[in-house]
Amino acid sequence: MNYPVWDLPVLGAGLVVAIIAVFHVLVSHFAIGGGAFLFLAEWWARRLHQSGRLEDGERVRDFLHRYATFFLVFTTVFGAMTGVGIWFAIALASPEGTSLLIHQFVFAWATEWVVFLAELSLLYLYYYGWKHNPQKDQVLLAGAYFGVSWFSLFIINGILSFMLTPGGWTLENRDLTAGFFNPSFWPSLILRTVTMFLIGGLGGLLIAGRLESEDPLKPRVVRFSASFVIPAAILVPLLFAWYWSTLPENTVKMVQDGVAGLGGGRLTAITRHLILAGVAGAAVMAGVLIAVFRPRVVTTGVAVALMVIVQMGLMGAEFFREMARKPYVLHGTLYSNSLWRKDVDAGAPVLQAPFLGRARWHPGVEPLSREHGEWVFRLQCASCHTREGYRGILSRTASWTPEFAFRWFQTMHEQGVMPPFQGSAEDRAALAAYLLDLHGKTLDGRDVLEAARKAEAAKAPPPAPPPANPPQAAADTDQPREAQP
Ligand code: HEC
Repeated sequence: MNYPVWDLPVLGAGLVVAIIAVFHVLVSHFAIGGGAFLFLAEWWARRLHQSGRLEDGERVRDFLHRYATFFLVFTTVFGAMTGVGIWFAIALASPEGTSLLIHQFVFAWATEWVVFLAELSLLYLYYYGWKHNPQKDQVLLAGAYFGVSWFSLFIINGILSFMLTPGGWTLENRDLTAGFFNPSFWPSLILRTVTMFLIGGLGGLLIAGRLESEDPLKPRVVRFSASFVIPAAILVPLLFAWYWSTLPENTVKMVQDGVAGLGGGRLTAITRHLILAGVAGAAVMAGVLIAVFRPRVVTTGVAVALMVIVQMGLMGAEFFREMARKPYVLHGTLYSNSLWRKDVDAGAPVLQAPFLGRARWHPGVEPLSREHGEWVFRLQCASCHTREGYRGILSRTASWTPEFAFRWFQTMHEQGVMPPFQGSAEDRAALAAYLLDLHGKTLDGRDVLEAARKAEAAKAPPPAPPPANPPQAAADTDQPREAQP
C-alpha cells in the first residue's frame, strides 16, 4: 500500500506486462537458440571447407549470413525494446514486487546487465567481422556469443522461478542462494534451454523458406534446422512433467479442478493455457516432420506460420506460469495487490482496520462515498480486474445485491485466486456500492450498510423461542448461504 496504482482501462496493468513479456519470451529465447544455430552452422561450413567442398561451404555461409542479418536486427531491436518495456511495465503494475526483486537480487541484476553488454559486443564482432575474420574466429565468436547469452538466461531464470517457488527463502530468512536455486530452477532452466533450441531451428526454416525450391541446398538446410526442433519437441513434455512436480500444491489443484471442470463444460483459464501450449507444441512437431520429408514445401509463409504457432504456445506456457502464481506476485509472500502475507497472518489489524488509513496514495475521500468505493477498488482489485475489459468486474457482479456483495468480500479469498479483503465494514459497504453503481444502480455505502443490517435482522432468531423447541441453525448469520445469488 506504499505506492500509487496504475489504473488502466480495458487492458489492465497486468495484461500490458503479459503482452510485452510474451513477445519478449519469443525474442529472448530466439536470441540464445539462434546463437547455438549460428555456432553449429559455422562449424558445419568450416567442416565443408576443410574437406575440400569449398563451394558447398560458401553456400552454407551465404545462407548463414542471411540468418545472421535477420537474427541481429530481430533480437537486438525487439529484444532490447521489449526487455526495457518489461521493466517499465512491471514497475508501474507492481511497484512493491519490483522493489522486492531489485533489492533481493541486486547483484544478479548487475551481472545480467554486464552479461548483456558482452552478448551484444560479441554479436557485433561476429556480424561485422564476417568478411575479414578467419573462419576459425567466426566459429569461436559465435560459440562465445551462445555461451554468454545462455548465461543471461541462467540468471533471469533464477529470478523468474524464484517468484513462483521461492523455496528456502522467506522474509525472515532471506537466503538468496536457496531462493535463486529454488525447487523449479533446474527444470525451468532446462525446459527453457530446450525451447530455445526449438526456436533457433525454426529461425533456420524461416531463412530456408527463401531459398528456391530447386536449390539443392534447401533440403539440407531444412534437415539441419529440423534437427534442432524435433528432439526439443520430444523433450519438452518430459521436462514439463519434471517442472510440474516442483509446483506449489495450490497450482496443481487449480489445474486439476480445471481439468475436472472440462467434463461439465467449464474450462478454467489456467487449464486452457496449458492445453494451448500442448496443442501448439504438437502442431509444430507435425509441421516440422512434414518439412523433413518434403523440404520443398518450406516457404516463407509456412515458416512464419510455424513461428506464429510457437508464439501461441509460448503465450499459453507463460500465462500458465503467471496464473500458477495467483494470487501472489511472490508466492506465499506478496499478493498481486501489494498486500503482504505476513500482514494477513497477523490478522485483524490489517484485515479489519479502515483500509484507506493504511494506503498512502489516494486523494482523501468522504467515507461511504462513491470515491471511497472506487479507491478501494483501485487499490485492492485493479491489479487483477478491470471494470469492463480484461477480467472485467462488471460481468462478474451482474447479479449482485447489496447484501450479497457486503458479505461476499469476507470470503473472496476462499476461491484460492484472490487475496483476502482488507478493511472495515464501511470499506466493504463503499466498495459494494461502487460496484453496484457501475451497473447503474444509484446508491451509496450508507444504503448498503442499511440493506445488510435489514438482511441480518430478517435472519435473526425469533426473540423468544418456546423453551421446548430450540431454533435450528439460526445463528449462521455470517456464513453466506449460497455461492452466488
Ligand atoms: C490476485 C488477483 C486478484 C485480485 C487482487 C482480485 N481478484 Fe477477483 N478474481 C481473480 C481471479 C483469477 C478470478 C477467477 C477467474 C475469473 O473470474 O476470471 C476472480 C474472480 C472474481 C469474481 C468472480 C467470482 C465468481 O465466483 O464468479 C469476482 C466477483 C471478483 N473476482 C471480484 C473481486 C474484487 C471485488 C476484488 C477486490 C476487492 C478482487 N476480485 C480482487 C483475481 C483477483
